[in-house]
Amino acid sequence: MSRSMKVKGPARICGSLKVPGDKSISHRVAMLASVANGPSRLTGFASSADCQATLDCIRKLGITVEEDHSALVIHGNGLFGYRPAAQPVRLDAGNSGSTIRMLSGLLAGQPFASEISGDASLRRRPMARIIEPLGLMGARIEATAGNLAPLTIYGHKLRSIDYTSPVASAQVKTCVLLAGLLAEGRSVVSEPAPSRNHTELMLREFGARVDASSLSVSLEGLPELRPVDYHVPGDVSSAAFFIAAASILPDSQVVLRDVNLNPSRTAFIDVLKELGASIQIQNPREQHGELLGDIVVSRSQLRSAGLGTRLSGAIIPNIIDEIPILAVVATQVEGRVEVRDARELRIKESDRIRTVANGIKSLGGEIEEFDDGFAITGHQRLTGGRVETAGDHRIAMAFAIAGLVAEGTTEIVDADCASVSFPGFYESLAALAGPETVAQT
Ligand code: S3P
Repeated sequence: MSRSMKVKGPARICGSLKVPGDKSISHRVAMLASVANGPSRLTGFASSADCQATLDCIRKLGITVEEDHSALVIHGNGLFGYRPAAQPVRLDAGNSGSTIRMLSGLLAGQPFASEISGDASLRRRPMARIIEPLGLMGARIEATAGNLAPLTIYGHKLRSIDYTSPVASAQVKTCVLLAGLLAEGRSVVSEPAPSRNHTELMLREFGARVDASSLSVSLEGLPELRPVDYHVPGDVSSAAFFIAAASILPDSQVVLRDVNLNPSRTAFIDVLKELGASIQIQNPREQHGELLGDIVVSRSQLRSAGLGTRLSGAIIPNIIDEIPILAVVATQVEGRVEVRDARELRIKESDRIRTVANGIKSLGGEIEEFDDGFAITGHQRLTGGRVETAGDHRIAMAFAIAGLVAEGTTEIVDADCASVSFPGFYESLAALAGPETVAQT
């Protein structure tokens, strides 16, 4: 049984925190290490349930994954080095869209069959977006009605591809690039708006030949991937909950150390700054082609632009995971904040437009819901209430922060799902907001 948590507000947050390793980077580095030639040593690897699902899948494919003090060592056997004990090998991606969509790219070119599935939420999420390009490359994939998981992937010798994805999705882009590693010749993948570019940057670290522009990436197939020694920085999407909290809670200040600041992930910070937030980056540095630094945030009065702040178009993929917490922030902004062109939110771990709208209303707030987004006019007075998370980690954490804003007690139902991306989230919250603010029920 999953716990409920009770959060008491109003509260402030103060202190310093190291958030868990970046989820997107952890998935990618584990998958690439599994097909490199030799042992890769990873530090800071995400403790999240999603990334553990990726490690479990890789182990089932016959790859040795060892823990060595605080590092993880993944013994890659080359591009075609998977040796599953059984066929078809049955893989469980849990709640993780990244695991199923990206790993399918590597499975598509292997000389064996795999079945990959996940929990009820994952089995509702669209897979046509990867089935189509992998099919064009030569793999045969069976799915259940509506192109849903479980997927049975009959691996095959792959052809390279020049593919234009109809959606701006880093998971799709990564899936095609990973399959492209296994195909002779040059594969190209293009998308309608820029998505996070960790895969492109990381492939170079492993020695692959990659050319990238903001909307298109090309890769030479069948490279010899060298193993890496890689430090995974903190996840800015996890830091976002504390950045938001410190921006809107009176008398607050937090320092978030060693956080990934890849510009394809940090538009949330830019948006908050435009609203008037006080956010500084300290110790900026570059590692493995990625930017990182420490983030210092303190409370300030937030205000939307004259006619309201409208977030739409190309910025949406960059802030997609932060939109639930952005909605909570919007309740505390003077003026209107509108999010549009974000229909993708409806097919995330939950229908995030609906779960966000229900959450705000449960706390006595007001929100206008659209098919592709929402609008919130603040500054609103929130009061404690009961929030249903629908098992969605980002909804649980966003509304735990809303609970610190609201007067009274907020119950977060099915709160444990936070560990999908942020194990220890409530403990970190209690450490920064005070033990009396967060309780288990
Ligand atoms: C991710 C890409 C995004 C994001 C997800 C992680 C990634 O999904 O929402 O949490 O690591 O590539 P889409 O590719 O579906 O947009």
